[in-house]
Amino acid sequence: MALEKKKFIIANWKMNPRTKEAAEKLWRESAIEAPGLEVVICPPFAYLGLSMTDQGTVAKGAQNVHWRESGAFTGEVSISMLKSLDVKYVILGHSEQKDQDWVVRKKIKTVLKAKLRPIICFREKQELENRLQGLKRIKGAMIAYEPASAIGSDHALHPEKALSMAILARLILTKRYSRPVAETIPVLYGGSVSPKNAASYELDGLLVGTSSLNSATLKKIIANVSKRHQPKS
Ligand code: PGA
Repeated sequence: MALEKKKFIIANWKMNPRTKEAAEKLWRESAIEAPGLEVVICPPFAYLGLSMTDQGTVAKGAQNVHWRESGAFTGEVSISMLKSLDVKYVILGHSEQKDQDWVVRKKIKTVLKAKLRPIICFREKQELENRLQGLKRIKGAMIAYEPASAIGSDHALHPEKALSMAILARLILTKRYSRPVAETIPVLYGGSVSPKNAASYELDGLLVGTSSLNSATLKKIIANVSKRHQPKS
């Protein structure tokens, strides 16, 4: 269902690794030139300001953001802070965050207004519908289907099931917006992605958690997806 030609590999480090040195090392080792792929690394906030090398080949993403511009919000991070750290993507509504749908909606607006790309997570159809409710603008966003049973579980969803949900999600986007707009929204799959299963997902990209914490494993995923999507001559 390739609509945007480029495929996306989003590495979600979650609350890892344990030290700044380990983060710098993991970043350095994960930076890889991948034709036809956009590789995005999403470290925890604490590591977003480190001077990562090879930023030319790998984009930086954040794992969340607050929807307000600034103010008395202890422990929160704003979109202008992320922008000033050269962040280009923001994961929103990850199930481990437990944000309510209205909060996710506000965050989507904030990220789009700042011209960064939100990666909107959803676990099932209704959750996607709720998160898009009343959102007039969606262009620039990406959505990521992450079924609860597949996250960090070693039970990746069957690729055909992921594809059916992606088709359904595209239909929802088409009905809410328009076909041309829906076609600009990459639909990703996330949940126990590994080098073994990565190439079998016929979606616009992958959200990779555990497997992104080992650079060799991440590189295998990137290589396998890249190989699979090379134009056949
Ligand atoms: P996982 O995590 O790859 O460890 O299943 C994916 C995610 O939660 O984004």
